[in-house]
Amino acid sequence: MKRVTFRLYRPDDLDAIKRLTIGAFSGVTIEENLETTLGMLNGHDWRWRKARHLDEDVAANPSGIFVAEAQEQLVGYITTRIDREAGKGRIPNLAVAAEFRGQGLGRRLIERALDYFRAERLVYAVIETMAQNAIGHHLYPACGFVEIARQAHFARKL
Ligand SMILES: CC(C)(COP(=O)(O)OP(=O)(O)OC[C@H]1O[C@@H](n2cnc3c(N)ncnc32)[C@H](O)[C@@H]1OP(=O)(O)O)[C@@H](O)C(=O)NCCC(=O)NCCS
Repeated sequence: MKRVTFRLYRPDDLDAIKRLTIGAFSGVTIEENLETTLGMLNGHDWRWRKARHLDEDVAANPSGIFVAEAQEQLVGYITTRIDREAGKGRIPNLAVAAEFRGQGLGRRLIERALDYFRAERLVYAVIETMAQNAIGHHLYPACGFVEIARQAHFARKL
């Protein structure tokens, strides 16, 4: 296994994070389900919409994004949001490059985010996954999360 190091997000990581996201999320994002069901929307494909989630994460809480690097290549990341009043930490996005999966990087990124939440004195953490995401359904309980709800998403063309 190549040596992997973890560090805080820097603004010049954004393009690499978006590339990693687009490569990683096929089959496990609501944005792709939307395209499969309704087709292209407003001239944009699911990759365009999914990449924008990272713009939102960066705008909301850049100091709560952690990246994993191997030989100066960005091979994983995790984003977070904080609701201090509620005591809540949320993990909106997490990805590891396909060739680096199954080596514990996803779990280490989650632990990193949880340590950050604890340092911020939050009291609980949440993460969501698609019903179709078998890895998420295995990994999150393995990291101590318990399932609290399932939700259905509906969409229609106008
Ligand atoms: C989710 C993701 C970040 C996990 O990264 P990772 O580095 O492979 O994570 P880890 O190696 O720490 O753990 C993966 C676990 O899933 C397990 N796993 C792998 N394939 C699986 C499958 N098809 N079904 C169930 N579990 C599976 C692995 O065995 C491992 O569990 P273990 O440690 O008990 O053996 C990565 O798969 C990814 O980027 N997926 C695409 C994007 C995504 O789904 N992001 C999360 C959205 S909610």
